[in-house]
Amino acid sequence: MKLWSGRFQKETDGKVNDFNSSIRFDARLYREDIRGSIAHASMMGEQGIISPEEARKLVSGLEDLLADIEAGKVEFSPDNEDIHMNIEALLTERLGETGKRLHTARSRNDQVAVDLRLYLKREIPKVLEQILDLQRVLVKKAEENLDTVMPGYTHLQRAQPITFAHHMMAYANMFCRDVTRLEDCLGRMDRSPLGSGALAGTTHPLDRRKTAELLGFAGITENSLDGVSDRDYAIELCSALSILMMHLSRFSEEIILWCSWEFKFVELDDAFSTGSSIMPQKKNPDVAELVRGKTGRVYGSLVTLLTVMKSLPLAYNKDMQEDKEPVFDALDTVRLCLPVFTGMVDTMKVRPDNMRKAAEKGFLNATDCADYLAKRGVPFRDAYTASGRLVRECVEAGKTLEELSLEELRKYSPAFDGDVYQALSLDECVAQRKTEGGPAPEEVRRQMDLILKFVEAR
Ligand code: ARG
Repeated sequence: MKLWSGRFQKETDGKVNDFNSSIRFDARLYREDIRGSIAHASMMGEQGIISPEEARKLVSGLEDLLADIEAGKVEFSPDNEDIHMNIEALLTERLGETGKRLHTARSRNDQVAVDLRLYLKREIPKVLEQILDLQRVLVKKAEENLDTVMPGYTHLQRAQPITFAHHMMAYANMFCRDVTRLEDCLGRMDRSPLGSGALAGTTHPLDRRKTAELLGFAGITENSLDGVSDRDYAIELCSALSILMMHLSRFSEEIILWCSWEFKFVELDDAFSTGSSIMPQKKNPDVAELVRGKTGRVYGSLVTLLTVMKSLPLAYNKDMQEDKEPVFDALDTVRLCLPVFTGMVDTMKVRPDNMRKAAEKGFLNATDCADYLAKRGVPFRDAYTASGRLVRECVEAGKTLEELSLEELRKYSPAFDGDVYQALSLDECVAQRKTEGGPAPEEVRRQMDLILKFVEAR
């Protein structure tokens, strides 16, 4: 018999029963559901809504049930629709009359809202920890490659010289923003909707602040309609996770490129690559490709949630039961991706020689050539034009800028002098880029220290 069977004369159609039931995906909220019920029962005992003995009985019954679920001794049933009614039914089976008092002054609408917030509050810190692990690895990789000159690209065309350490710190900074975005999201999520009831609060003398405190929330949601209909926190989380995955997908894409024979900037460890079933020579960056692919899946969750919530009238609507699968899937996917990705980066071998070789070709020092002239008083636009012409001559002659003689250089500008060769050397081009945020080793060192401070402050 359904918990809500009172006003019905017929049994639920079997297909509707299965269709309506969410237990197969909300069962994972059992801990939070029981925690929420324990807080609610204790508060009701203190407020005299139920007797202190009844409250004690409910609390210990719920604790026993939790232990049994954890020990695998309990089976949930789709006939009880969702995790909330499954728990209540199991409790009532065990406690009889007292069990029936648990749902006083409460609705599944505020119950599911509090459960989901509690669950996400527990899970998000695990993601944060995984991001921090990745950042530590990035600092380690940077440490080993402060002087590893590589081409920096725009439009995937060789642009200006940077170092591999500088490149790693670019990602480390993106991940700092991911961390703070998730922290912001956690902060806004940290309010208890319990006591909002179905939508309009309750006539019972609840102490909402008491349950919020027992459940470790920083405060309560201030409007009962909003309390049961808000899913912003789940959307914000999926949005933050989507941006994180976007970063991982860009990093993956670069790693895939770097592994190709065309680049050969890195080599993935055997333990983090895969082979082909037909081509014996293949070593594929499957991990990076899968992370890139799973990004689509996390975006999908965000779009699902936004679309489910679009135009929903207040307050609770059953549509909102569709919030759980996408948010769980987004979290599961990110938690699956991060440690594998971190392991892949940690173990990949960097090929400084190939990076340098690539940086030597493609006129990455052309800007430095123009800057050299500008520093000698040539207006930058003229210096730029002279350097551009030099590049054109070199392209035709199959030479690099530094292979031209001083006389050849002077044909384009009399401001060239013997020290130009020093200014055009790759190491110098990197070492002189000391602007805050730039690739000069001492500057990247400062960036690394900031990342380490950020990680340690958490
Ligand atoms: N299983 C439901 C959900 O996940 C719980 C709330 C149901 N409330 C209701 N009035 N049907 O959203």
